[in-house]
Amino acid sequence: MAHFVLIHGICHGAWCWYMLVSLLQSAGHRVTPLDLGASGINPKQISELDSVSDYARPLMEFMASLPRHEKVILVGHSYGGVVISLAMESYPKKVSAAVYLTAFMPNLHSPIATGVAEFFKNISSEPNMDSHLWFDDGPENPPTRTIFGPKYIAAKDRELAITLLRQGKFFMKDLSNESLLTKENFGSVNRVYIVCKDDLLIKESLQKWYIENSPTVDVKFIDGSDHMAMLSKPHQLRKHLQEVAEKYK
Ligand SMILES: *[C@@H]1O[C@H](CO)[C@@H](O)[C@H](O)[C@H]1NC(C)=O
Ligand SMILES: *[C@@H]1O[C@H](CO)[C@@H](O)[C@H](O)[C@H]1NC(C)=O
Repeated sequence: MAHFVLIHGICHGAWCWYMLVSLLQSAGHRVTPLDLGASGINPKQISELDSVSDYARPLMEFMASLPRHEKVILVGHSYGGVVISLAMESYPKKVSAAVYLTAFMPNLHSPIATGVAEFFKNISSEPNMDSHLWFDDGPENPPTRTIFGPKYIAAKDRELAITLLRQGKFFMKDLSNESLLTKENFGSVNRVYIVCKDDLLIKESLQKWYIENSPTVDVKFIDGSDHMAMLSKPHQLRKHLQEVAEKYK
């Protein structure tokens, strides 16, 4: 039996995994969905997050608390891919596999910020995107904060999302540091990418761009899935995660 640690994307929280949590638990796995800083029901306010470390702290503290020989499977959705990568760098021996679910996936030849900037480039041609971006560092610099609207969430979960979404930060300055990830640590962990083919936010072409720039040991696909695969296709996602658990013990 595996222990899955689920890391939500920007503006979301542990709540978004509720269906997947029960599916994986019914299959006998341990599941820990976490709220990152100022997310979900985490008590911090967004103004209290000074760095990406403040945002990632709940995951880092969780990794530090694991018994020495225990390994987990990290699952990062969307911006959660950045956060699980930082945890892999700090705790590579505690991660048996890392799963990027339509997520920002860093590589070893450019700073993490590059992959996030590629996303900004890719959505700039989408004038009716249901989200708001703030440019606290000036219009010439990348956006700093966002609130993603709920339009891209399937209708049945939209009401839930509207009550639970919170503002999120991108931490682009912190992520422009060239030496956050190393081959020895981050590079030593088995990575799997799950492509969501009908994602309108992180498009399939961008997901493939991440994989080309940072090849994984495995690539899986979910057909007909929007950005929120854990809500729209929880059964396919569970199947893929169980395969990962079988293969990377
Ligand atoms: C970049 O990251 C490394 C590793 O975490 C750290 O030691 C260094 O201080 C950081 N550099 C800057 C300019 O923040
Ligand atoms: C960005 O999105 C467009 C579609 O809107 C796509 O054709 C293009 O290849 C994308 N670029 C990357 C790097 O994914």
